[in-house]
Amino acid sequence: MTLEFTTTQATERVTDEQLAKIHEAPGFGRVFTDHMVSIDWTLEDGWKDARVEPYGPLAIDPAHAVLHYGQEIFEGLKAYRHEDGSVWLFRPEENGKRLQRSAVRMALPELPVEDFVEACKQLVRADEHWTPSGHEQSLYIRPFTFGNEVFLGVRAAHSARFMVIASPVGAYFADGVKPVRIWLSEHFNRAGKGGTGSAKTGGNYASSLAPTQEAFANGCSQVLFLSSLGDRHIEELGGMNLVLVKGDGTLVTPESDTILDGITRNSLFELAEHLGHRTEMRPVTIDEWQEGVESGEIVEAFACGTAAVITPISEIVSPDGSFGWPDQEPGEVTMKLRKALTDIQGGRAEDPFGWMVQVTEAKA
Ligand code: PLP
Ligand code: COI
Repeated sequence: MTLEFTTTQATERVTDEQLAKIHEAPGFGRVFTDHMVSIDWTLEDGWKDARVEPYGPLAIDPAHAVLHYGQEIFEGLKAYRHEDGSVWLFRPEENGKRLQRSAVRMALPELPVEDFVEACKQLVRADEHWTPSGHEQSLYIRPFTFGNEVFLGVRAAHSARFMVIASPVGAYFADGVKPVRIWLSEHFNRAGKGGTGSAKTGGNYASSLAPTQEAFANGCSQVLFLSSLGDRHIEELGGMNLVLVKGDGTLVTPESDTILDGITRNSLFELAEHLGHRTEMRPVTIDEWQEGVESGEIVEAFACGTAAVITPISEIVSPDGSFGWPDQEPGEVTMKLRKALTDIQGGRAEDPFGWMVQVTEAKA
């Protein structure tokens, strides 16, 4: 049975003038909409009390499981405003399914996918006017679940809360689609075999922060992790998947059970095949990448994810030197795929895959 949602309207709401100002330069994840969704879970009763309520601080008990053992999972997806004023989500069921897989790994309860999608829709509808319509803008939706039992024993919490918050966003990187430099983390790994690398859980991001600081200190915007096995296989970036483009248009992305199963990457591969590209999901070493750049076999690379969309990579930088295409404009295939995907998301192109889910009606 699907959950029924109640709504408590926020009394303090953003004014039209304030919202217009926010939409002028939203940045990424700094301002949040007027409402949020919460659904509680207990071991005895399961999921209950689904509600849309005013956005605001939570009362956190100092003994909440999440504060001590990091029992938390999250998702990221976007709502797009189309030219006719309607608002659409991109593949929300895929995020719902992935949140369930993360829940299994982190011993949290699995929210049914229908309830996940409905929760996202409820928030987008409650804060309908918050979805921006500017170039490259969208409403970033952040669903998450955390253990909130008051107990310090190390075992799965017997109570949890699922929430959704939303934030109007522009480009994740301040320079938009300008190619980014990536720092190769030689000492830190993100994930190990049997670990939590394929789950979208806060701890993976916490452990990426020190290497990301190293990246920033070296003039890079993201960190690239290698496999912990010492085999020099490339995995992914701190918050994005990675795709290499060969001269014949073939796309290559690392395959590993220690990385996040990216919805953007999977969608791009489907789209690229539809457009006649070959795709390969297989183990790739950093040496194959470097030698491929030097021989001219690998001609472009990009980062992809919900937040980053598709961002071209200019260089891989490490203490031993760098390689890539420091002086190159964004690659042709990168930009072609970027346009094809963002045109579907923005409603400017047909959606042959049935990826878009409508949330609000066109405006008269
Ligand atoms: N890898 C990591 C570590 C991420 O945080 C993300 C972003 O969610 C991705 C990959 C890309 O996943 P998706 O395309 O589903 O957003
Ligand atoms: C996303 O793309 O949704 C993420 O979670 C990645 C993070 C860098 C914002």
